[in-house]
Amino acid sequence: MPQPHPVDTADTATHTLVIDTDPGADDVIALLFAMAAPERLKLQALTTVAGNVQLAKTSRNARLACEWAGRPDIPVYAGALRPLKRTPIYAANIHGKEGLTGVDVYEPAAPLAEGHAVDYLVRMLRAAPEKSVTLAMLGPQTNLALALEQAPDIARGLRELVLMAGAHFNGGNITPTAEFNVFADPHAAEAVLLRSGVPITMLPLDVTHKILTSEARIARLRALGNRAGAIVADILDAYAPQEMKHYDMPGGPVHDATVTAYLLQPSLFKGKRIHVEIDSREGMGFGQTVADWYGSLRRPANVNWIADGDAQGFFDLLTAHIARLP
Ligand code: RIB
Ligand code: CA
Repeated sequence: MPQPHPVDTADTATHTLVIDTDPGADDVIALLFAMAAPERLKLQALTTVAGNVQLAKTSRNARLACEWAGRPDIPVYAGALRPLKRTPIYAANIHGKEGLTGVDVYEPAAPLAEGHAVDYLVRMLRAAPEKSVTLAMLGPQTNLALALEQAPDIARGLRELVLMAGAHFNGGNITPTAEFNVFADPHAAEAVLLRSGVPITMLPLDVTHKILTSEARIARLRALGNRAGAIVADILDAYAPQEMKHYDMPGGPVHDATVTAYLLQPSLFKGKRIHVEIDSREGMGFGQTVADWYGSLRRPANVNWIADGDAQGFFDLLTAHIARLP
């Protein structure tokens, strides 16, 4: 496999950005975080996918995030209703039946954008300058897999993919071996890994389970005194305890927001390029990201696998950005 083009990983890089997402408590925080940095993250659109909850709810929650960030101008395109092949699974036990815990949800003022998210991705990436668009993916990777299947040429418009996905040293969170986003559509994850041909950075549970909330960190967000700070604090107060109990951790992970932090300040994170494959066979390993951290397979590296991050630096960056919102 040809080595992908190098990407700018300076802490000052700007991105022409699309975020594919299944909001989701941590997704909403990642979205608010991203929308607070318009000078660095030129957010073109959100594309939604079924994942944490059904598509209608993830799409509504994405529109709510835009409303809460004061960015109703950002188009939200609804995408895949279900995974490529497997039976759909959801995570309402973690994110609540509405896909968002701790806050009241309602129908946002701005409507969904016209058209399917996959058609938007194809249209937008075909029109984009070569290697110009960063696609951040915070849920099952169904939309991009479908777009690549429909129009393989769109890869030329992609600069890089930054995914919250996978687990290796940490072990899984939906099965002993699999992380939810990959487990919810392993065939899509496999297709993206094999077909995109662009630089991929993965932020797996190996790093997200090291960047945890604390009472002080949530209180600091609430003390901002703005609506966004209260929303983020209320979401985390409701979402974190069940993750803490389930995984016996001192705090809750804010998985998807680590993707936003990586885009803004990659120096907060540590990892290396390794060979990764997806197990899409039925069985105990279904949805596992097989991460060859020690290079034992001697196969070409295809993923920049992030294994560590600066937790305090993350919360400093998140808080400073949430402070900018209404
Ligand atoms: O495993 C964590 C991931 O699954 C996060 O993206 C969370 O939002 C869920 O989609
Ligand atoms: Ca998500």
